[in-house]
Amino acid sequence: MEINTPQKKTILSGMQPTNDLTFGQYAGALRNWVELQHEYDSLFCVVDLHAITVRQEPAKLRKRSLDVAAMYMAAGIDPNISTLFIQSHVPEHAQLAWVLNCMAGFGEVSRMTQFKDKSAQHADNVNVGLFTYPVLMAADILLYNADLVPVGEDQRQHLELTRNLAERFNFHYSPTFTVPEPFIPKVGAKIMSLQEPEKKMSKSDANDKATVFLIDSDDVIMSKIKRAVTDSGTDIVYDAEKRPGVANLMTIHHITTGKSIAEIQSDFDGLGYAEFKEAVGEALVAFIRPVRERYTALRSNEESLKATLKSGAEHARDRARKVLRKVYKKTGFVEL
Ligand code: TRP
Repeated sequence: MEINTPQKKTILSGMQPTNDLTFGQYAGALRNWVELQHEYDSLFCVVDLHAITVRQEPAKLRKRSLDVAAMYMAAGIDPNISTLFIQSHVPEHAQLAWVLNCMAGFGEVSRMTQFKDKSAQHADNVNVGLFTYPVLMAADILLYNADLVPVGEDQRQHLELTRNLAERFNFHYSPTFTVPEPFIPKVGAKIMSLQEPEKKMSKSDANDKATVFLIDSDDVIMSKIKRAVTDSGTDIVYDAEKRPGVANLMTIHHITTGKSIAEIQSDFDGLGYAEFKEAVGEALVAFIRPVRERYTALRSNEESLKATLKSGAEHARDRARKVLRKVYKKTGFVEL
């Protein structure tokens, strides 16, 4: 573990092990985490407690939690630099969540738009866990006194709730929690669906041609790019509003080759969609292949993967325990 020097700020983030990770998640989140881990005291978790707010098959959840952890590493999260762990291995998350639940207003939690969306999507299972999901997320963050939380725009409201809960606790008892800031990349690479480029690429899209997964084979990646929906235009020009399909392919090409949008525009000047898709597909294949290969190697040694996660969880717990102890004491629980 890197030494946690006091001047280093802490960041924490997590993803749910509800599906295979997508290129969209890589471009929008993982890629940033990999960069940030060198500058910050970093914690990255696989949030399995969050995952069960939607019905999960136990065997799949178990497998996917390990899949996601291995993919974090394949993408470049270094467990010797960052604290990498599975949320349920650190029981303090659930313990702090309970205390925070007792400070969160029913009204303020009711306003969370993700709850409204998800309860519409899963109308047959609108459970209390789904409702209180953002409070558990607040616990994840406050338990480590994270300064910054790298998340997508869709999580801004949850971060605002986290800040309110931290301030409320600090005010009612005494200063305890760092009030975290969301860390939303300004030029965030938002990857859109390959089939409906007006909406975000999603790991749970019903149309499997819409999403590139980081475990997709070369052929599958190529065919998804070739079948990507574009428009009736012919030239390669960036216009996210009017021509979202082409713009999305340009963004993908930018990420996988490092070329700027202007360079891409001039490189493909006079060429058509077919040539462009060929190039985007090839670069994406070349980009994902080593990630997939590292993933396969890491995932095939489950013993070693679990040992890494065990040491990550121990490290996380050491920190979490101290913060939770303070919280319990201030709340009025008897210490023996
Ligand atoms: N709610 C986040 C999402 O759906 C996942 C998450 C859970 C998270 N706990 C977190 C993200 C803590 C950042 C910090 O994307």
